[in-house]
Amino acid sequence: MDQSAFKEVIRERRSVRRFDPAPVPLDAIRELVDCARYAPSDTNSQTWEFIAVLNPDRIRMISEITWEKLHGLAEDAFARGRDKEARLLVRSFGPYATAFEHAPALMVVLSTPYASKFRDRIFEPLQFVSPQTWDMESIKSSCLAAQNLMLAAHAMGLGSCPMTGPVLLAEQSIKELLGVGPDRQMNMVIALGYPAEKPAAPKRKEVDDILRIIV
Ligand SMILES: Cc1cc2nc3c(=O)[nH]c(=O)nc-3n(C[C@H](O)[C@H](O)[C@H](O)COP(=O)(O)O)c2cc1C
Repeated sequence: MDQSAFKEVIRERRSVRRFDPAPVPLDAIRELVDCARYAPSDTNSQTWEFIAVLNPDRIRMISEITWEKLHGLAEDAFARGRDKEARLLVRSFGPYATAFEHAPALMVVLSTPYASKFRDRIFEPLQFVSPQTWDMESIKSSCLAAQNLMLAAHAMGLGSCPMTGPVLLAEQSIKELLGVGPDRQMNMVIALGYPAEKPAAPKRKEVDDILRIIV
């Protein structure tokens, strides 16, 4: 394997928020999900599912739902005298949370309930961990699949942007809009399309600042 080509895909992937209006071909979407499903998962549970939203009206509706929740939160914040935070919420977080609005495709990344023999035979009878721990376990694997998808997208000339803003603000309403069952968690959405910008790479922490070696 050519390590430098591999590292280039990792290094050059950027969060893209401005897209060419050209649609993403269905074959490309299937290829991305094919790459996603080779991610590792806890006990090979494969706790991931994807919804590809290609309809511009649907994508706009998801953005509108997100803005609606955000404005509701801002009104509450104003009412509590938190004017500064309310303004920041609308001016800064609003556009960040809805940057997918004009993307030609939106991949909704779900996590499915985590089932395993360990859970059934050992952990549940002993009530070792809380149910929320299993939700987290599903999310971890689903995140790895999402990263596979975004790296594959970059390698295929597509831009992507992982986004949890709409999930933090409006998970329940978006799930209802898309007919997602209550046992699924919305992990993130990924804006997807051919890039119309080439963002500069945000600075990274140095290896020495994030690595501790124990010998
Ligand atoms: C968990 C997570 C949530 C994110 N949520 C958003 C978001 O709501 N809106 C957005 O525009 N970007 C979002 N991003 C993208 C980050 O802003 C971006 O990854 C970061 O600034 C580094 O830039 P890069 O991806 O180009 O390397 C998110 C990224 C991650 C990993």
